[in-house]
Amino acid sequence: MNIVIVGPGAIGSLWAYSLYQAGHKVSLWSKHIRPTSSLTLENVDGEIHPHISFPAQEYSQLNHADLILVTVKAWQVTQALSPLLEHIHTDTILMFMQNGMGATDQLFPALKHYPTLLATTTHGAWKPSSDYVRHTGLGQTTIGALNSKGESCQFIADVFEHALPNSLWVNDISVPLWAKLAVNCVINPLTAIHQCKNGQLLSDTFTTTINKLVEELVLVMSQEGISITHAVLRQQILSVAQATADNFSSMQQDIIHQRPTEIDFINGYLVKIAQQHGIKTPENKQLFQQIKKLEKQWSQL
Ligand SMILES: NC(=O)c1ccc[n+]([C@@H]2O[C@H](COP(=O)([O-])OP(=O)(O)OC[C@H]3O[C@@H](n4cnc5c(N)ncnc54)[C@H](OP(=O)(O)O)[C@@H]3O)[C@@H](O)[C@H]2O)c1
Repeated sequence: MNIVIVGPGAIGSLWAYSLYQAGHKVSLWSKHIRPTSSLTLENVDGEIHPHISFPAQEYSQLNHADLILVTVKAWQVTQALSPLLEHIHTDTILMFMQNGMGATDQLFPALKHYPTLLATTTHGAWKPSSDYVRHTGLGQTTIGALNSKGESCQFIADVFEHALPNSLWVNDISVPLWAKLAVNCVINPLTAIHQCKNGQLLSDTFTTTINKLVEELVLVMSQEGISITHAVLRQQILSVAQATADNFSSMQQDIIHQRPTEIDFINGYLVKIAQQHGIKTPENKQLFQQIKKLEKQWSQL
């Protein structure tokens, strides 16, 4: 397949390299004007794969793409894709892979012309320099349709599975997206505010807050058609905190490096949907406001 990666940062570069290795013709579209971009991949076992040069910033690649994988951060999606749509054929499959929910909402009317997919991944990637990507943790990628045209694209899960297991298709992508959102609503803002590793959330200090957050999440999720009990959701969140105990969350990293976070698409999204259902979510709202306050501090520096 002809594949273009829009936003070849950490996760985009991991997929670019993996899809290339699986035999696809991959090109990159970044913010910077460069005719080529090269990448070296270090896999999870520490093996270093050879340097590969990818074509970049070519409108003809966008025009002939079978698949465009968008891996910018959630708050960058609209700005990154809007100017490109006029160069993309309506047969091209668009796939969005971001943490959080709602990143494609502004583009939704334009996306109805394209087979569009949403994906969520638990693979970990880190890009310490512009031409080096490290696969920091194995995970799973779940793919599903955003619109009716996307429903005929189940084969894309096989393409991704061949490049980087485990990848699977689901008929209702909102289920895994809500499951990940719930985990992110707890782990991301708490680790960012308290500047701690994920595992520290397992201490008694956080029990009351986590219980209140889970209570709100269960209520909103049930209104969105996702039925889950407090005990099960709480356990899922604590299991992720346990399995990633030594890791810093992406929001903790964003805050420490004074970068914009994805809070609008995590607790911000939860609060927005709760309001639509007339549900009060004071605990999530407070975390949302605390992160916004932190972001504002350095934007005023
Ligand atoms: N990294 C992980 O392990 C991981 C795991 C699971 C999910 N995710 C999710 O995947 C998404 C991407 O994360 P990431 O860690 O890969 O972030 P990242 O390293 O910041 O990658 C985003 C890339 O998009 C580029 N970009 C920004 N605006 C653009 C534009 N208008 N046109 C083209 N490219 C543009 C950025 O360039 P600049 O740097 O020059 O701005 C950057 O290279 C996030 O939603 C994240 O939560 C990441």
